[in-house]
Amino acid sequence: MTVRGIWGLPSGTFLISLLLQAAIGANATNILDLPTEFRQLSWSIGGYSNLSDTITLPNILKIFNPHLVGYGKRSTVSYRPAALEDAGLNLAVTGANTLLLPEQVRRLIATLQILPQINFQEDWKIVTIFIGSNDLCDYCNDKVRSGLTPHHPPLCAPSSQIITFWIPVTVS
Ligand SMILES: *[C@@H]1O[C@H](CO)[C@@H](O)[C@H](O)[C@H]1NC(C)=O
Repeated sequence: MTVRGIWGLPSGTFLISLLLQAAIGANATNILDLPTEFRQLSWSIGGYSNLSDTITLPNILKIFNPHLVGYGKRSTVSYRPAALEDAGLNLAVTGANTLLLPEQVRRLIATLQILPQINFQEDWKIVTIFIGSNDLCDYCNDKVRSGLTPHHPPLCAPSSQIITFWIPVTVS
């Protein structure tokens, strides 16, 4: 029997996220902690503890599907390579802007294709994208490239198309 979880998704559901949900400084109690990426606490992909302890999307999904794969488990340090068993499929890069999104999407696809726990073609995936806050800072340096000028096509459109085209059975 296939157990159906939230939104009627099959039990093979797993969760992925990328971009600007590195949760940098999320649990910092002093200035030395600010470069720490608290990937286990990110609302969209952190899987620290359980729902009574930490409210995140994966902790909600875990109630319906204990076999959820991909959530962040431990903190990582900005600008250093993060191990898959710590970051999970949280491929967010601290400081990234929307122009760097396609590169991250391609890295996500490459990672998904080699992940032993999943069936790339058939397992359901949830991709959340949260990007743009650094674009606001970029606006001061280059108004056109930042994409924040009126009538500029949305910078994230190519990345959405890559996801839809290249990752099968996905909610994004
Ligand atoms: C959730 O985590 C807390 C803190 O680690 C623990 O005390 C509690 O037993 C856990 N609840 C469940 C349902 O596992």
